[in-house]
Amino acid sequence: MGLTAVIDLDLPGATISRHVYGHFAEHLGRCIYGGFWVGEDSSVPNVRGIRSDVVEALRAIAIPNLRWPGGCFADDYHWRDGIGPRDQRPRMVNSHWGDVVEDNAFGTHEFMDLCELLGADPYVSGNVGSGTVAEMSAWVEYLTRADDSPMAALRRANGRDEPWRVPFWGLGNEAWGCGGNLRAEQFASLARQYATYVRDQGGHRTCRVAAGASDADYHWTETLLRSFDDLAADPATPAAPFQAVSLHYYTMTGPWSDKGSATGFGTDGWYVALARARHMDELLTRHSTVMDRHDPYRKVGLVVDEWGTWWNVEPGTNPGFLYQQNTLRDALVAAVHFDAFHRHAERVVMTNIAQTVNVLQAMILTDPDTGALVLTPTYHVFAMNTGHHDAAALAVHLRDVETRTVHGGELPLVSASASVKDDAALVSLSNLDADTARTVVLDLRGRDVVGHRARVLTAPALDAHNTPDRPRDVAPVDHAGVRSHPRGLEVDLPAHSYVTVTLALR
Ligand code: AHR
Repeated sequence: MGLTAVIDLDLPGATISRHVYGHFAEHLGRCIYGGFWVGEDSSVPNVRGIRSDVVEALRAIAIPNLRWPGGCFADDYHWRDGIGPRDQRPRMVNSHWGDVVEDNAFGTHEFMDLCELLGADPYVSGNVGSGTVAEMSAWVEYLTRADDSPMAALRRANGRDEPWRVPFWGLGNEAWGCGGNLRAEQFASLARQYATYVRDQGGHRTCRVAAGASDADYHWTETLLRSFDDLAADPATPAAPFQAVSLHYYTMTGPWSDKGSATGFGTDGWYVALARARHMDELLTRHSTVMDRHDPYRKVGLVVDEWGTWWNVEPGTNPGFLYQQNTLRDALVAAVHFDAFHRHAERVVMTNIAQTVNVLQAMILTDPDTGALVLTPTYHVFAMNTGHHDAAALAVHLRDVETRTVHGGELPLVSASASVKDDAALVSLSNLDADTARTVVLDLRGRDVVGHRARVLTAPALDAHNTPDRPRDVAPVDHAGVRSHPRGLEVDLPAHSYVTVTLALR
């Protein structure tokens, strides 16, 4: 039969929330400072201190939400240090990331201003590790309360009359590690307590996300979900004091001590990275199975609020700043993750790639000296996938896919997913083969296809990347390799490429 993708266009599944395409900005290295925030006096064009080119680039990919202020930083962060006149804000040490002094120039008002400029929903990560219930409760009141309560009055005194919307609220971060080194049972009790005091103020509603597991720590998920068994039994009542639990999983090719280089890798580094990215699908399946046992009505979402590649830092850069190059391989890693997120759309309500600018698998890299901005290959996958936002997932049945053995497991060499919204469908196709091009038949059933447009992202080298001098070495172009076929369409997939096909339907 040959490589075929069977898609029933008339059988829409769960909605792929646009929040699956979320982002993460931590006070880490040059993500906030230099990345988003340059200050009002900078020669880099800005709006109230926020870089205009970064905002424009992220608006172009319809950034749906932004997680802040961490990460590990969140559990050291005391929000009152970041409000009021900037020159009077206290300093602190960013002990996780470079042990540098943080001047709190970028605080609550600056973050909310950034979200408004981006048109993105804020996802505030609250401090459980070194904070208090009262501190977190007051922050919620400060941000979201409309009347003349003490915190609303303080917000007004600092220049903001109207309350903001904060649809997502994190209860801690990596509580098993940098967020307090807690045991699962300890944190589960704390999460219930903190969630209680992250109150919905007036008509404002927030989704509380309890800090979840890393990788395959199913015990952590089990413990969190079990902690509200007493509340979940009745389908008519809210399931839990928190509405979501998180999961963190990073892709690297070696151990934490030597995670692999972002560039200069061979085919082995290519396949190992993609096999590890593919592992996300198994993690989602197994964490969801645990959740289904305690939450059969699926009232609690899974939020993958940190994912992406984590390589050794670029030579000569601060090891605590996590600055890495971003290549075609990173783009394919992202594409493989999105296929998994789409397949698990029923449970996965949000994800946040780590991190948006200048840190880990970034969308944007900026030059520390010239300020020049570069869009990474990963950015282009986000751009090519905007059609999946809030669309209904479609099952893609792949036949005759070759596999390659990687570290004892089988890596399918083609990855795919699809979605439909009104009269348009979007099909994502990744050819993970480092060397060999393929042709796939799209067996399109259930609706008439009256037009198509395809885009392709590839480059000659596996580690091709963009720089200020060569900003479009890896950038999507129109793809001519699509032909009619008795069963639908035939699509050429160049070696190591990502292809999207948009279908016009009747
Ligand atoms: O994204 C970098 C760090 O990775 C985050 O601060 C932490 O949550 C995780 O370990």
